[in-house]
Amino acid sequence: MSSTASRDAPIGIFDSGLGGLTVAHAVMRHLPGESLVYFGDTARVPYGPKSPETVRRYSQEIAAFLLEQGVKAIVVACNTATAHALPLLAETLPVPVLGVVGPGARAAVRATRTGHIGVIGTAGTIRSQAYVRAIHAEAPHMIVTATACPLLVPLVEEGWTNHEVTHLVAREYLDPFLKDEIDTLVLGCTHYPLLKPLIGEIIGRRVRLIDSAEETALDTGRLLADRDIATTAAIGSYRFIASDDPQQFLKLGQRFFGDAIEHVEVRTFG
Ligand code: DGL
Repeated sequence: MSSTASRDAPIGIFDSGLGGLTVAHAVMRHLPGESLVYFGDTARVPYGPKSPETVRRYSQEIAAFLLEQGVKAIVVACNTATAHALPLLAETLPVPVLGVVGPGARAAVRATRTGHIGVIGTAGTIRSQAYVRAIHAEAPHMIVTATACPLLVPLVEEGWTNHEVTHLVAREYLDPFLKDEIDTLVLGCTHYPLLKPLIGEIIGRRVRLIDSAEETALDTGRLLADRDIATTAAIGSYRFIASDDPQQFLKLGQRFFGDAIEHVEVRTFG
């Protein structure tokens, strides 16, 4: 791609809701010149407990909408959507597509010394085994222990990132890892980076926490450079679109993204 217009086209980023703003925020910090169109499917969140077929259908609808907005690449910021829909999107879309599972898995393989990696995510992500496959694709000898932590998403959305209830719930979920020999834990869900201090406190300092958001932002930069579609602009612009109540998105979104969210557009499906 050589025209300036194409290079300066925005990156599309989507998630089941607001959590993917952690990925958008990391992209914004690492690639400040890139413009972003963020879509949060707030009307249909959560994806975690839904069937792979449903999540694939939702993901295809959103990807088609982002293409209509003229995006040059799509980042699937949702772990559950990546787990169920990334191969389909990568095969069928005319722009490069990146998910969060591969970058997180690669970072975990790089970080571990004992070769025993833990993964936490939604029920759908863990059931799909997407992280286990991605880690084994990098390093087949790794031992991977994966656990679903479905209650953590609503607790983060409630803003209870340092609440004693969240401590209790997280302790319960992380208990098997305390007896295990893992030295690396993948935070395989958009919401978990907001719980980093709490999870770190429970799991102890000897365990490295892998934040897929950071890794995905770095991979996005590499992808744009490889395809020669990185922008030359100094500062990007941002659009935020939700499929439900924009006021709620605005209020909660600032928790994930900060004050850069001033206006939220609405686009509904179905
Ligand atoms: N965005 C989802 C993920 O990263 C978490 C929220 C949901 O269940 O939709 O898996």
